[in-house]
Amino acid sequence: MTHNINKAIGIFDSGIGGLTVLKEIIQRLPKEDTVYLGDTARVPYGTKSPETVTRYSFENTSFLLKHDIKLLVVACNTSSAISLKQIEKTLSIPVIGVLEPGAKAALKATKSKRVGVIGTEATIGSEAYPDAIMKLDPGIVVIGTPCPLFVPLVEEGWTDDEITLMVAERYLNPLKREEIDTLLLGCTHYPLLKDIIKKIMGDGVSLIDSAQETAIEVERILSEKRILRESSHKGSREYFVTDAPGRFINLGERLLGIHIDNVKQINT
Ligand code: DGL
Repeated sequence: MTHNINKAIGIFDSGIGGLTVLKEIIQRLPKEDTVYLGDTARVPYGTKSPETVTRYSFENTSFLLKHDIKLLVVACNTSSAISLKQIEKTLSIPVIGVLEPGAKAALKATKSKRVGVIGTEATIGSEAYPDAIMKLDPGIVVIGTPCPLFVPLVEEGWTDDEITLMVAERYLNPLKREEIDTLLLGCTHYPLLKDIIKKIMGDGVSLIDSAQETAIEVERILSEKRILRESSHKGSREYFVTDAPGRFINLGERLLGIHIDNVKQINT
């Protein structure tokens, strides 16, 4: 399958959040070309019904497939939780969601076998994280908590703000009482709140960043399928958004410290 090596990795998210996953992929695999689709016109997915999330996820997938990609990354936790299994069934290229890599890492990290998961309402409501973790080890207790205000707080740029700290305390204190030793950050935006979450949960709780774990999994699968770029190529970046690109570029650059250009607005 050597002819596939030069194709790009396709990545979609409901908006800017998936850039946390893209950033990890770029850092780990700088030679790979990437095509990113942010569905900025229809974000957030985290408050929508499973039917709507699945319809959007399929439309995003179809768009990226037209770019002849070699692997698809469903960077949105909500889409991964709700629609990944259905997407996988319809594609002939490898598909990686953000759930399983995080679940595997949580399993490795926990000693007490008590794991917390935070995410959007839709992700936590789907029970997809407990399912994924308990499939690997039925003895693990998984406690899920939705943290719906985290996404707008991150998008407001308040990643290091006392208001965010107060909100986080409100969400996380009940989880602390559950005596978990591992906490899975099950949403694209939450790695940007790592410092605040760490402050509340303390050193005794390992934080699992699904974005990082997903990039590791992307490398593993590309290498296993022998479609990992080895040459001295410098990876190209292409971005598509469904709303005007201004906010995507500003927010993405400010929050993630990556340069964003080559952005086109499309209809999925
Ligand atoms: N990308 C979403 C996720 O990871 C968060 C934003 C949204 O609700 O769409 O679940």
